[in-house]
Amino acid sequence: MSQRSQRKEEHLALAKMFFNSNKTNDFNHIHLIRPALPESAVSENSIVTEMFGKKISAPFFINAMTGGSTSSYTINKRLAQAAAKENIPMALGSASILEKEVDQIKSFKIARQENPDGLVFANVNPTTNPKTAKEIVGALDANALQIHLNSVQEAVMPEGDRDFHWLDNLKAIREVVDVPIIIKEVGMGIDPESLRTLLINDFSIIDLGGSGGTNFAQIENERRKNQKLMFLEDIGLSTVKTLLAARTIPVNKTIIAAGGITNALDVFKSLVLGAKYVGIANYFLQFASQDLDSLIVAIQNLKYELSLLTALFGIDNIAEADEIKYYLDIDLYNFTKQIYN
Ligand code: FNR
Repeated sequence: MSQRSQRKEEHLALAKMFFNSNKTNDFNHIHLIRPALPESAVSENSIVTEMFGKKISAPFFINAMTGGSTSSYTINKRLAQAAAKENIPMALGSASILEKEVDQIKSFKIARQENPDGLVFANVNPTTNPKTAKEIVGALDANALQIHLNSVQEAVMPEGDRDFHWLDNLKAIREVVDVPIIIKEVGMGIDPESLRTLLINDFSIIDLGGSGGTNFAQIENERRKNQKLMFLEDIGLSTVKTLLAARTIPVNKTIIAAGGITNALDVFKSLVLGAKYVGIANYFLQFASQDLDSLIVAIQNLKYELSLLTALFGIDNIAEADEIKYYLDIDLYNFTKQIYN
């Protein structure tokens, strides 16, 4: 097995092992105000929305995880089958491995094979050659391309990049790729200043990828033999803080919340804080690594629970969630005061 493929296997195993071990994404520090007289009824239609021109059954999707190894094939097949059955989008893990190892493509192509009509996103790293990025989108028949920003992960990887000049290549990729581009973090969070830079440069679909869920500094530290960089595990911006900060920038944008989201209330709170969609990775991996049926049940439960919350909070459609009132615990309140000023 190649070093890259081996890494993919280790990411799956370690992410699964660390799941929920240190959840600090701040959702427990924001409280929604619930109407005692909701004047609404539970309906699965209340959570239906659209993305990239396609109707989807819920505002959440399977976020980027894997591809490029033996287990990746099995996991991606189950994720794709569940995404097709439940009509939610699915992102593949980074396909940059295909630049060097084209025979690994089977574990990526399975997503479209199992889900001919659904939304499939390809994913590359920010240094990928633009021409390769375009070929990947074509080969995987992707509806959108995610480009991940993962400087902290790279820093902890002994074999990782050490040059983080990425913006010019992001623009070069956009020049040649003809599907929408989603810029995403991988669990350390996008801060307001970087978000502003991305928006000024016309990258308008942003997955904030906050901390408090899967932590790639933790995962890569576990893979490191010596000089572990533990202090990098704690430098992220929590998912809720990334959302609060994004609200301070008065520019049209499509915000995706992600990072440690594992239940319907966290999905709902993300929408209240202005996200249009919610990306969920490790929570779905827990089921996908068991079997297809448990993954499907998990998605169905999440949908039902989200429609329940929609009714309980007195709205007919999740698009109205951002009108719901909330209050913040003191740390979040402090954060908003310092970020806004
Ligand atoms: C990821 N994630 C990820 N992101 C990305 O852009 N490209 C990738 O290849 C991967 N690979 C990957 C592997 C595994 C096993 C996991 C669990 C995650 C990051 C993922 O998309 C997401 O941003 C973070 O995991 C935070 O979300 P969760 O896991 O806390 O829901």
